[in-house]
Amino acid sequence: MTITIQTVDDYHAMSEQAAEYFYDAIKENPDIHIGLATGGTPSGMYEALIQKIQDSALPLGAIQTFNLDEYIGLSQDDPNSYYTFMKDTLFAPLKLSRNQTYVPDGNTSDHEMECRRYEALIDEHGIDLQLLGVGENGHIGFNEPGTPFDSVTHVIELNDTTREANARYFNSPDEVPTHAITMGIRSILKAKKIVLLASGTNKAEAISALFRDTITEDWPITALKEHPDVTVIVDKAAAGQIPDEK
Ligand code: F6R
Repeated sequence: MTITIQTVDDYHAMSEQAAEYFYDAIKENPDIHIGLATGGTPSGMYEALIQKIQDSALPLGAIQTFNLDEYIGLSQDDPNSYYTFMKDTLFAPLKLSRNQTYVPDGNTSDHEMECRRYEALIDEHGIDLQLLGVGENGHIGFNEPGTPFDSVTHVIELNDTTREANARYFNSPDEVPTHAITMGIRSILKAKKIVLLASGTNKAEAISALFRDTITEDWPITALKEHPDVTVIVDKAAAGQIPDEK
């Protein structure tokens, strides 16, 4: 296992550090394939990355992005779809075109076929650098506890805690979809490099699982211990329960 941990003061510092990491990676490899996450964790890093890219006029015409997951039952233009989140937060500000930004389609008539299509897409293109957040229960992508580590892109039923955590984006908790399409654990581990971000005390238990001896499907994040190149950028609050880091 090769996990490098970088502990910084707060969410702002985490976002800046991660933006620098991704900026450097794009600069070094202009046709990089990047795996992306949605949610509160990467939002600050996306903002900082956009700023850096705009300030330097870094060309992005050859990069490709692949999102981890999408809710089932929401059309791409639904305000709460992850596609819309990505479009508003990153794709539009960076003027990335539709044919360089891939997000699973959660609104097809055949979800299983969409999962197979998406996994084949990942295999065909290959992901160089995967960005991850983590759920309070240790999920990565939407791979909830108990998801087999050999899973590829699949349909998952979201846990109540995950739906509650994500209800903040919806008008009411009932509107949060019950299912999602997510890259599987094995799909995630195929990336050459992985960067995981976490901020806040509510992520501290999940982060500490990464630094305990056990690798267990009860804590999906522990699958990362089987990957050769993982960088974890966390703020002090999220690092608070790491053994020896207290
Ligand atoms: C999102 C994703 C999830 C989130 C996790 C944390 O694409 O795959 O694993 O990273 O639920 O969400 P936030 O960042 O909102 O706390």
